[in-house]
Amino acid sequence: MTTDDSYDSAQGSCRGRGMTEKISSEPSEGFPIGIAHIAVIGAGLMGHGIAQEFATAGYDVYLHDVTDEKLETAHAQIEKNLGMLAENAVIAKEEIVPALQRIHTSTELAAAVETADFVVEAVTENLALKQQIFEKLDAICQPHTILASNTTALMPSQIGVKTKRKDQILNTHYFNPPYLIPLVELIRSPDTSDETVALTVVLLAAIGKTPAVIEKEALGFVGPRLQAALIREAFSIVEQGIASAETVDLIVRNSFGRRLSVAGPFEVFELAGWDLVLAAFEEVYPDLNNSPNINPLLREMVDTGKLGVKSNEGFYDWTDDRLQALRDRMNHALILHAKNV
Ligand SMILES: NC(=O)c1ccc[n+]([C@@H]2O[C@H](COP(=O)([O-])OP(=O)(O)OC[C@H]3O[C@@H](n4cnc5c(N)ncnc54)[C@H](O)[C@@H]3O)[C@@H](O)[C@H]2O)c1
Repeated sequence: MTTDDSYDSAQGSCRGRGMTEKISSEPSEGFPIGIAHIAVIGAGLMGHGIAQEFATAGYDVYLHDVTDEKLETAHAQIEKNLGMLAENAVIAKEEIVPALQRIHTSTELAAAVETADFVVEAVTENLALKQQIFEKLDAICQPHTILASNTTALMPSQIGVKTKRKDQILNTHYFNPPYLIPLVELIRSPDTSDETVALTVVLLAAIGKTPAVIEKEALGFVGPRLQAALIREAFSIVEQGIASAETVDLIVRNSFGRRLSVAGPFEVFELAGWDLVLAAFEEVYPDLNNSPNINPLLREMVDTGKLGVKSNEGFYDWTDDRLQALRDRMNHALILHAKNV
C-alpha cells in the first residue's frame, strides 16, 4: 500500500501515495496553525481511528505499522467506519473518498514521519517500546515537529526521556472510538512548553475535538484513573459474590451511567448535597476495595486466556452476533449523543 494513491471506487480500495513523494509543507488552507501533515504510529484499534479523524478534517495523514497486513486491515476498517458515519449523517457521503485519499500508509517509520508536523504514537502499551520509538522520532522528525503519545497510563516525562526535544512532547489521550468520543486529554510534562500545549489545543479544536489540558502529569491522568477505580471495585464486587458481571453492567448502564454522560460526578453530587454524600460514604468507604494489588480474579482471567472480545471469551461469550449487537448499540447511542449535545 505504498506506491499509488488513487481511490478505486469500483474496487472499493485506496492505495497509499508513494512515500518518496514530498508534499508541500505549507499549512493546509483553512487550518489555523502551521501544521499540515500528521503521522500516526501504530494502526491498531486507536491508531486507525485517530488517523481517520485527522483525514476527515482535511489533513494529510501518514499511518505507520509493522506489517502491510495491519495497514490494510486499518484502511479497510477506516472505510467501514466512514461508511457507518455517512449512513448516520455524521459526515456527508461525498467526504468518504477524499478522506481515504488523504491517508497514506507505510511500514517504513522514516518515510511516514519525515514530513510530519505532528506525530501521534499509538503503539502497544509498553514503556520501553514507546521510549525507543520516541528516540527514533526525535532523530528523524523535523526540528519543529510535536510528538504526542496516546498512552493510557504513562507520563510524557517517562516516554520522552531519551529525546532532546522534551519541550515538544506531550500526551494526547483519546477515548475509544476516537471518531465518536469528542474529548482528548492533553497531558504535559514539567518540560512541555506552553507553545506546544497551545498549538496542540488549537489543532485538536480545529479537527472538532474537545481538548482538556491536565496541568500536572500523573499516571493514568484523569479518565483512566477514574475508570481504574470503578473497575477495581467492580471486580471486587464480582469476586465477593455480591453481584455477577452481567448485573454490574446492567446497573451501571441503566442508572448512574446514563447520568454521567450528561453530568460529571461533581455536578451530580452537588445536586445531592455533600452532607448526604459524607454521611453515606463514611459508612461505605471502609468496606470498599482499596488494594494497590491487581485483583486475583483479573489475573485469573488473563492467565486462563479469557481476555474478552480478543479471545472470544471473558465474562461473556463473544459470538459475532453479540459483538455486532454491542457495537451497534454503542455507535447508535454515541451518534445520538453527538447530534444532541
Ligand atoms: N484500546 C483503547 O480503548 C485505548 C484507549 C485510549 C488509549 N489507548 C492506548 O493506545 C495505544 C494503542 O492501543 P490500541 O488499543 O490501539 O492497541 P492495538 O494493539 O489495537 O494497536 C497497537 C498497534 O501498534 C502496532 N505496533 C506495535 N509495535 C509497533 C512498532 N514498533 N512500530 C509501529 N507499530 C507498532 C501493532 O502492530 C498494533 O497494530 C496504547 O498505548 C493504549 O494504551 C487505548
